Amino acid sequence: MASKDASTRKEHGFATRLSHGGRAGTHIHGFVNPPLLRGSTVLYPSVADRIAFGKKRMEQELIYGVMGSPTHHALEDVIAEIEGGTRCQIVSSGLAAVTTPLLAFLDAGDHCLMPDSVYGPARSFCDLMLKRLGISTTYYRPDIDEGGLAALIRPNTKVVYAESPGSHTFEMQDVPMLARVAHAHGAKLLMDNTWGIHFFQPFRHGVDVSIQALTKYVVGHSDVLLGSVTTNSDADWERLRGTALALGQYASPDDCWLALRGARTMGVRLDRQMRSGLEVASWFRQRPEVRQVLHPALPGAPGHEIWKRDFTGACSLFGVVFDPRFSVEATQAMVDSLTLFGIGASWGGYESLALPTTGFITRTAGSGDFGGPACRFHIGLEEPADLIADLERGLAVLRDYPR
Ligand SMILES: Cc1ncc(COP(=O)(O)O)c(C=O)c1O
Repeated sequence: MASKDASTRKEHGFATRLSHGGRAGTHIHGFVNPPLLRGSTVLYPSVADRIAFGKKRMEQELIYGVMGSPTHHALEDVIAEIEGGTRCQIVSSGLAAVTTPLLAFLDAGDHCLMPDSVYGPARSFCDLMLKRLGISTTYYRPDIDEGGLAALIRPNTKVVYAESPGSHTFEMQDVPMLARVAHAHGAKLLMDNTWGIHFFQPFRHGVDVSIQALTKYVVGHSDVLLGSVTTNSDADWERLRGTALALGQYASPDDCWLALRGARTMGVRLDRQMRSGLEVASWFRQRPEVRQVLHPALPGAPGHEIWKRDFTGACSLFGVVFDPRFSVEATQAMVDSLTLFGIGASWGGYESLALPTTGFITRTAGSGDFGGPACRFHIGLEEPADLIADLERGLAVLRDYPR
């Protein structure tokens, strides 16, 4: 719902939709923000009302806490709008946003295709949980061509999954091609769009179900875990919503409220972080210690042509591959020496992070060799000049590390 009860959906830009989406106009006594509503039991005026509501579980009706509150629905509306989908389900974490649609669109005996570069815990879910449910997984190279992917499809392939770029090694995927192959064989295309946020419009490129770890830029402050799954057709929504309800998927309204608050400023944060990320990535590219920078928005970087074709911007997460004359231990010492970069998982917060990648990723389809030790950097809201000075000192540690 828009802030003055007028639809902001189609005609307005990203920043306007972030400001006005999911607001209640003047209904909440005129307060700007939707209320934080906590609750399990929802009371009905009569048994007849209870029966009428019970038939509307798929809608944003207030029936019981686990089915959501106006606080959840406000966030769902904002996320559905920025992804260009029709309906959104909030779930407990980004990982739950990966696992819930996999469970929704796969049955016992089915097969799914996952990119070799997929987020590690998604791989574990396939290898551990889906396998136990009798669902098999084949990992494909993220740079696979149309013929290669079609050759991996089996009669029971029901899901093709994409993550573009891979969140550790930044391989771009040809999503429209994946959609063509998936749909030609009756499979759904599920995509983790956390890196692309709104810079990639999944449903315009053939994606059926879009996954976001809201924990990253939407929350933006490294203090909440949350995920979203967005669909663009009634049939996909029914399947997803039914599975989420069956699993008891739920997120705290306090966390949804914080994510909604984060979403209001995400436009300016992303704009700043995109520019800072490109500045630091370009600086890395000039350095003799660096073999290549894995930032799809940099001209000449791996996957840049796909990025230019399909994306309108970039977040501030990228990789750096160091010259092979440096050891993995030397890159670890460099990361240890940084003072403005935290060493930790996740990304999308206001603070910068650095993480060695080499030795921490699993590959089984032959991808992922970049010819040198690699690290992942997340650029926060600090001054880029301060970050670069810190990295400059870090590169001295790298150079001085005993060979
Ligand atoms: C690409 C990607 N998807 C999903 C997730 C999972 O998000 P969460 O940490 O909220 O479970 C992550 C977390 O790092 C991620 O990088």
